[in-house]
Amino acid sequence: MALRDGFLWGGAVAANQLEGAYNDDGKGLSIADVLRAGDVNTPRVIDKDGPLSGMNYPSWSAIDFYHRYEGDIALMAEMGFKCFRTSIAWSRIFPNGDETTPNEAGLAFYDRLFDCLLAHGIEPVITLSHFEMPLGLVKNYGGWTNRKCIDFFARYAETCFKRYQHKVKYWMTFNEINNQSDVFYPFVVWTDSGIVFKDSDSFKTRRQIMLQAAHNEFVASARAVAIGRSINPNFRIGCMLGFVPVYPKTSNPDDILAAQRAMEERWYFGDVHVLGNYGSYADRIWEEAGAAPVMAPSDEAELQYGCVDYFGFSYYMSRCVSAAKINSTPTNFLGDDSNDYVKVSDWGWAIDPKGLRYVLREIDGRYNGIDQFIVENGLGAYDKLEADGSINDQYRIDYLRAHIEQMKLAVDVDGVSLIGYTPWGCIDLVSAGTGEMEKRYGFIYVDKDNKGNGTLERKRKLSFNWYKKVIASNGEDLA
Ligand code: BG6
Repeated sequence: MALRDGFLWGGAVAANQLEGAYNDDGKGLSIADVLRAGDVNTPRVIDKDGPLSGMNYPSWSAIDFYHRYEGDIALMAEMGFKCFRTSIAWSRIFPNGDETTPNEAGLAFYDRLFDCLLAHGIEPVITLSHFEMPLGLVKNYGGWTNRKCIDFFARYAETCFKRYQHKVKYWMTFNEINNQSDVFYPFVVWTDSGIVFKDSDSFKTRRQIMLQAAHNEFVASARAVAIGRSINPNFRIGCMLGFVPVYPKTSNPDDILAAQRAMEERWYFGDVHVLGNYGSYADRIWEEAGAAPVMAPSDEAELQYGCVDYFGFSYYMSRCVSAAKINSTPTNFLGDDSNDYVKVSDWGWAIDPKGLRYVLREIDGRYNGIDQFIVENGLGAYDKLEADGSINDQYRIDYLRAHIEQMKLAVDVDGVSLIGYTPWGCIDLVSAGTGEMEKRYGFIYVDKDNKGNGTLERKRKLSFNWYKKVIASNGEDLA
């Protein structure tokens, strides 16, 4: 058997993308609640000062998981899920982020949710911050640019760790903390750190601000790990990176160097979480940006003490980088999807299953066999509801099968230590990047369209029974 007994097969979601109930039971607004719907060609507008009337904010109702979780979890149990990755909406617990007392009604919701999962034998895997910091922390403190957020996050983490210490073992601190590297993509800088740059901000200014925010998040993550360990030494607390590997476009040594630089941007985030310090190449990154982040004297020790227990990451695609392109557009140093050897999805994401094996091996080598957890992977696609009510998503099965095959090779042949696999959006939900419902990832179809119309009825897709078989055979039966 390629995969270990107890391998954590499951699925992944995030609170803001499926719960809805955006102001129920005392919840405050989060940064996700001011993101308007967009689509494949239209970027999401960020209403940073608060929601405007008449606009469509998809997170407000999403798929109403807040009121329907029992039925949804029963469907996941039917597929045989061993675990379920979701996040806690920080603004359900601390509505503005800076309160000293948590909101009991918010805490009680997650008690009910975790109890329901455990009753089905499903292990909760919990992200503390998945693109949903309280909007109050952005409006009143400037988001993660402000070190005060470290204390607010630590209080939030401690509250969750204490409350759920007997229900949750697997945690992650910040979802895809490294997305913000791409400082000319406003969406990712907002969702990671609550920052909106001025149009006039230069590349260097943006990079300095982002690197400071990331540093504050690293310290917050390390502090949370330390707090978690003191509450329950059996916790396993991981990091979470969006791991898009960047390949050289050609064997031209200039392209090789460009790809190496792009990969350093990935390792920058992984190294601090796993090794507890910035690699020597960080000096080059700071020099490029024109300044290093400001650090407190105690940060070094905190980072060193708060190293994570496992490496969680999402894998959807790879990229290519060419020195010639960077010469004309230096801000494009992380490459793009123009790889002649792979196809792309309807949203232009490169479909590259072998890239997953490559990533698993790279992480394994760099971090000395660390436990890894693939906490997101999947195909966003348009699904067709047939007249007989079926959804024949063979393309999704093909995508997942190809990735699971590569994952098994990494474990079986390459010896990578892998804890689990939770495909993204196991039930259709709001797309983070575009705010659409019709960019679907699920094994479970949800009747809702981009305009918000639909009955919210759930239906099993073709992939539902396929994934059930995969789990039952511990990944042996992929037919
Ligand atoms: C990851 C995020 O970036 O990819 C998820 O952690 C997100 O929140 C997922 O939904 C897929 O991206 P998208 O834009 O298709 O929803």
